[in-house]
Amino acid sequence: MEFDFRRLPLVFVPAGLLAGLVLAITVGAPVLLANQPRPPAQQPIAFPHNIHVQAVGLECGFCHRTAAVAATAGYPDVEQCMFCHEVAGRGNPEADKVRSAWTTQQAVNWERVHRLPDHVHFVHTAHIQAGIQCSTCHGNVGAMTQVVQVRPLNMSDCVTCHRQSNAPTECATCHY
Ligand code: HEC
Ligand code: HEC
Ligand code: HEC
Ligand code: HEC
Ligand code: HEC
Repeated sequence: MEFDFRRLPLVFVPAGLLAGLVLAITVGAPVLLANQPRPPAQQPIAFPHNIHVQAVGLECGFCHRTAAVAATAGYPDVEQCMFCHEVAGRGNPEADKVRSAWTTQQAVNWERVHRLPDHVHFVHTAHIQAGIQCSTCHGNVGAMTQVVQVRPLNMSDCVTCHRQSNAPTECATCHY
């Protein structure tokens, strides 16, 4: 049978369009979405950093206890809030949620603001020990009523700083 070349586009154009669409959805959309600034997280309790850091004068390490010694900085237990919230902010509906979480012994499930993909390995310890401030990566959290991500913290951001500060840049440094 003779091959009819005029039929070729009719078969391949829709297939090509479909492949393009699939590529746009599977590859393009995640890349575009990843580059959008994240919307602020909906927290179970509206916790204001500015009141606690600027007005009350707490250090970051009072609540994020493991930043200097472990991979994660961690979130405080409700027990740490109760150091003050037996009394502080009584009648304030958000502060009252802290007391009722304590009374009912419910953990508060804080929403992640910063979240790297699972294939990336990040450790707080190495950075704190190298003398890098929290604000270098997280901005002036102590002045925020609600935490937002202010720095891309994507691969080129990480690698650029690693290069500038003589930190390792082998793939295995950051990828399992
Ligand atoms: C009184 C306790 C307390 C203190 C002090 C405190 N934090 Fe927090 N921090 C929290 C809680 C609770 C959350 C989770 C709710 C939220 O995101 O606001 C949090 C969230 C964060 C997050 C977002 C974590 C994520 O999910 O990505 C960052 C970054 C952060 N804190 C940095 C800091 C820095 C930097 C300081 C010091 C300037 C600080 N915090 C002081 C309690 C505290
Ligand atoms: C070199 C950049 C960098 C520095 C410096 C840094 N962080 Fe982070 N932080 C990150 C990244 C990246 C994540 C997300 C980690 C992930 O998803 O695995 C994160 C996550 C967090 C979280 C969410 C919970 C967790 O542990 O993953 C908190 C809270 C936090 N950082 C607080 C702090 C505090 C407090 C300091 C200073 C003591 C600090 N960070 C210093 C980059 C940094
Ligand atoms: C060292 C004392 C101290 C600790 C620890 C503390 N707080 Fe507070 N918090 C305060 C004070 C003081 C206020 C202001 C109370 C007022 O306005 O009367 C406040 C206010 C609040 C408010 C109300 C904010 C507003 O809009 O007025 C919330 C919510 C809150 N804290 C949550 C927390 C949570 C969650 C923790 C634990 C992660 C925590 N606090 C730990 C002292 C503390
Ligand atoms: C502001 C500069 C800076 C940024 C941004 C930064 N790093 Fe680092 N990183 C360093 C420095 C400095 C060290 C310490 C190197 C040393 O101890 O020799 C380090 C160490 C590390 C280590 C430990 C390496 C080891 O073997 O000890 C890992 C893992 C790491 N960084 C991952 C990341 C990832 C992932 C990101 C982005 C999410 C990132 N870093 C962003 C500066 C940075
Ligand atoms: C200093 C840390 C760091 C180093 C070194 C690093 N990466 Fe990454 N990489 C990241 C981070 C953070 C992400 C996730 C954020 C993003 O997609 O940019 C990532 C994402 C990726 C992705 C997924 C991209 C995507 O679109 O999902 C691939 C593939 C990758 N890295 C490959 C590599 C290879 C290959 C090397 C070595 C040549 C390398 N990385 C070195 C931090 C690093």
